[in-house]
Amino acid sequence: MFETLSRLSEDAILGVMAKYRADPSPLKIDLGVGVYRDAEGRTPVLDCVRIAERRIVDTQLTKSYVAPAGREEFNAAVVDLVLGPEHCAVVDRRVIAVQTPGGCGALRVGAELLRAAAGQTSIHVSDPTWANHLPLLGGAGLRLQRYPYYDAATHRLDFDAMIARLERAPMGDVVLLHGCCHNPTGADLDADQWRVVAELMSRRGLLPYLDLAYQGFGDDLDADAEGVRLIASRVPECLIATSFSKNLGLYRERVGALLAVGASEARVAAVRSHVLQIARSIYSMPPDHGAAIAAEVFTDPALRQTWLAELAVMRERVQAMRRLLADSLRRHSGGGDYDYFERQRGMFSLLGAPPAVVERLRDEFHVYMTADGRMNLAGLTPSSVERLAHAILRATR
Ligand code: LMR
Repeated sequence: MFETLSRLSEDAILGVMAKYRADPSPLKIDLGVGVYRDAEGRTPVLDCVRIAERRIVDTQLTKSYVAPAGREEFNAAVVDLVLGPEHCAVVDRRVIAVQTPGGCGALRVGAELLRAAAGQTSIHVSDPTWANHLPLLGGAGLRLQRYPYYDAATHRLDFDAMIARLERAPMGDVVLLHGCCHNPTGADLDADQWRVVAELMSRRGLLPYLDLAYQGFGDDLDADAEGVRLIASRVPECLIATSFSKNLGLYRERVGALLAVGASEARVAAVRSHVLQIARSIYSMPPDHGAAIAAEVFTDPALRQTWLAELAVMRERVQAMRRLLADSLRRHSGGGDYDYFERQRGMFSLLGAPPAVVERLRDEFHVYMTADGRMNLAGLTPSSVERLAHAILRATR
């Protein structure tokens, strides 16, 4: 039977990770997969996570099943983190959360839910978007469409084109929005633009699907959730996929959640029952270890303070690398416009160079990024910035 299967090309992001690992050069620079690295190039286990994990290991009495919805104290804390305690959907009990295996699990379960509710409905994703959005959403049977998002010439959001396209989306279609730190462009909506989008979604009867994978990497936890909170207060229904891979550094533990906001408490109870059935039919239950750690960090006041401080260190380090890179490029190029590296938020920016340049950077300069020129600036260290700037200027000339 397997003779029907031909070998697939490697994953756009994970393939870069494998190539980087295979390069023996001591000068190699990893701007590929979206993981945070410290100034020594390590992806640390956060102190808050270590403490919480030790506590859990020392006190856990069983490894028996939890539930398809995961830990309820985790789910409640996630709602609090994403929407805040005063949000109208929280006060009216119109929101549910279900723990999932990472943000990918949340996105896929949400897509399966949409398919169950609306059949082969269309979902509009930004052009460009995170490469894995396409199989995660399309694989559930949703029809993928793209809306313009980023103008590569100006390195800015093309908001007018985005709105013009979404104005033409048929009522009932789904629109995927990045809550903050857009992957791969780093170009986010500002507060006024979120208001325009919220008004459009509500007036046109579109269903927002918000992907919040980098909460805390833009400004802070609350500021980064403002767009999501606004949308969830202006529309009767929306979905939110959230991930704790990056802001808690729990990548391999697979910790995420799917939130659904509905028109009434009864409506979201029905939605929850479908989400649980979908989870049961794919993976039965989410892994517990990482969510137990996350719940401990969210609910223990001292651990939470430690987390906020560690998150600020990660965020500020990436911002510092953005500034250093922009400075270095400006200096060595004789004043070129590289302000966008400083302006953009989160881990990613697009280099804005063709694939041949990306290949040259890899083969001649040992600089690794995805083929579309997405650079994970968290992969830079003070000692690699200058080398990268020189490599970019030489490869693009
Ligand atoms: C990324 O965008 O590189 C990360 O979210 C990792 C992944 O799974 O693609």
